[in-house]
Amino acid sequence: MFFTTAALERHEYLCAESNSSRKGKLTTTAKTTNKALLKWVEDIATLTKPDNIVWVDGSPSQYQELTEELVQGGTFIPLAPDKRPQSFLARSDPSDVARVEDRTFICSQRQEDAGPTNNWVDPNIMRQTLFELYKGAMQGRTMYVIPFCMGPIGSPFSKIGVELTDSPYVVVSMYIMAHTGQAVLDALGDSGDFVPAVHSVGAPLSQGEKDSTWPCNPSHKYIVHYPETTEIWSFGSGYGGNALLGKKCLALRIASWLARKEGWLAEHMLILKLTSPEGHVHYIAGAFPSACGKTNLAMIIPTLPGWKAETIGDDIAWMRIGEDGRLWALNPETGFFGVAPGTNSKTNPIAMETLRSSCLFVNTALTEDGDVWWEGMTEELPPYLIDWQGNPWTPESGRDAAHPNARFTVAAAQNPIMAPEWTDPRGVPISAILLGGRRASVIPLVCEAFNWNHGVFLGSIMSSETTAAATGEIGVVRRDPFAMLPFCGYNMADYFAHWLSMPQRTSADKLPRIFYVNWFRRGRDGSFLWPGFGDNSRVLEWICRRVEGENADAVESPIGYLPSPRDIDTTGMNISPSAMEELLSVDIDGWRKEVSLIEEHYAQFGDRLPPQLRAELDALSKRLHQSS
Ligand code: OXD
Ligand code: MN
Repeated sequence: MFFTTAALERHEYLCAESNSSRKGKLTTTAKTTNKALLKWVEDIATLTKPDNIVWVDGSPSQYQELTEELVQGGTFIPLAPDKRPQSFLARSDPSDVARVEDRTFICSQRQEDAGPTNNWVDPNIMRQTLFELYKGAMQGRTMYVIPFCMGPIGSPFSKIGVELTDSPYVVVSMYIMAHTGQAVLDALGDSGDFVPAVHSVGAPLSQGEKDSTWPCNPSHKYIVHYPETTEIWSFGSGYGGNALLGKKCLALRIASWLARKEGWLAEHMLILKLTSPEGHVHYIAGAFPSACGKTNLAMIIPTLPGWKAETIGDDIAWMRIGEDGRLWALNPETGFFGVAPGTNSKTNPIAMETLRSSCLFVNTALTEDGDVWWEGMTEELPPYLIDWQGNPWTPESGRDAAHPNARFTVAAAQNPIMAPEWTDPRGVPISAILLGGRRASVIPLVCEAFNWNHGVFLGSIMSSETTAAATGEIGVVRRDPFAMLPFCGYNMADYFAHWLSMPQRTSADKLPRIFYVNWFRRGRDGSFLWPGFGDNSRVLEWICRRVEGENADAVESPIGYLPSPRDIDTTGMNISPSAMEELLSVDIDGWRKEVSLIEEHYAQFGDRLPPQLRAELDALSKRLHQSS
């Protein structure tokens, strides 16, 4: 439980400060006898001084009441009921449009446990800083208590959290993204453990002050994790992963720490079910950095005749060794928080179908007839829009109408191709793990790792061009191991070691095979060589056949096993043999340069880097030298 010594000290600290009483009335409709929870809620209210406390019961009527309030307050614009029923658009503050990686902290007791890739501040100092910021931070607002469960309620693999937030937008988003409310309190019982997660937009209101439609704190943002006490404290942002604390904060950063301790994996991965024309089922997990097409792949419509795809999850996979020795994966979320721009009826018809009603949008454009629009939604540009900042827009405006990180929030149950087993508390057994990124050159369309350790090596060197999902420069290649750079809650070198330890937990042949893919390779003229989307099923077919023991004649190259171009079924595609050659060739010079970049990447981990990875790098370098 989180009441470790440090947390108790913190608790006393808060009580000592509680002499000035909260104003306003305390509305508690909680049906819980969990003393630790009640006490903690009281403590945080004492610190943050909300006007009211409302317990989220998870009922549709409470969701509706809150959406109505959000409409009245001007945060939500209801979309036209004949276009997109029961759906709303929110416009965020222009300073609050994405995850803030530079303001995200892993405050473990020791800096070396956070590692070189995480921001770290001594937890005692961070507690002081946050204490000052949270003092009275919810004044003039309501504090909502959101009991939530990541994973099916009642599953031994699920984790319960409680988010305290002063943002009703967060409440309605969490309602879609996780199990929330009374059912979670019931599962928690009198003495169950929960992850305490405090969120404030950091914009207290004085008496009579008019609220903004997207309150946030432009000068102070902190997304803080104390892994030893499994606490989350988020301040100043109301956007996505900064504020919906079940997602990146709990289900990845805190969960990855717990997973290492408990012997499982919490990963930034989609989970896809594929059924071959012969009826063979394969579940595939895939790690791709933010905004690299995970949602599209999770909702793929295969262009290869006879293949069927269904979704299990689009962003997070919790994986553990099952009783049969295989790796089983669970999607802990109940919704999609997807990137809207680029989504259309060709790139992701399933998402378009999923989004027909009952969704929340943020930072898309608004059409004249009360619907949403974003770049790439239609081939033809609408003649007139209201852009994501609420200003008139025409095609001549010369700027994007939607923010590049505009998002939709929608219940997974609305996806017409959800596999029925997506709610199975045991998860699904994984046949193959995909690793991928957005790379214009060097990385081929697909290549299979020689073995588990080599696969972990490929995961550890993953790289991708940055996107708008996080604030910062766009299009710069950065190392993003296992797509977990922004989400790993501990030292990444230890994370690699944890992955390398998996074969000790089961027999190696039961573990999934690992494949590195790159849908984003460009030709000399700068255009994409591979069409992607539904045609990615052709690569998935090769992978499934490999797993089944067919396609045994893959080409052994210095970087792994590659298909020969004829092994990828391109029937019906308009792709030249030379493009296929290029997509499946090994760029020896490019890889040699990559080796020195990997050296640099590895150097940051010092002695903590597992020796197996150094050995893999040396072996790669040797193979590259031998093949000239
Ligand atoms: C996300 C992200 O929102 O990875 O899923 O940024
Ligand atoms: Mn993600």
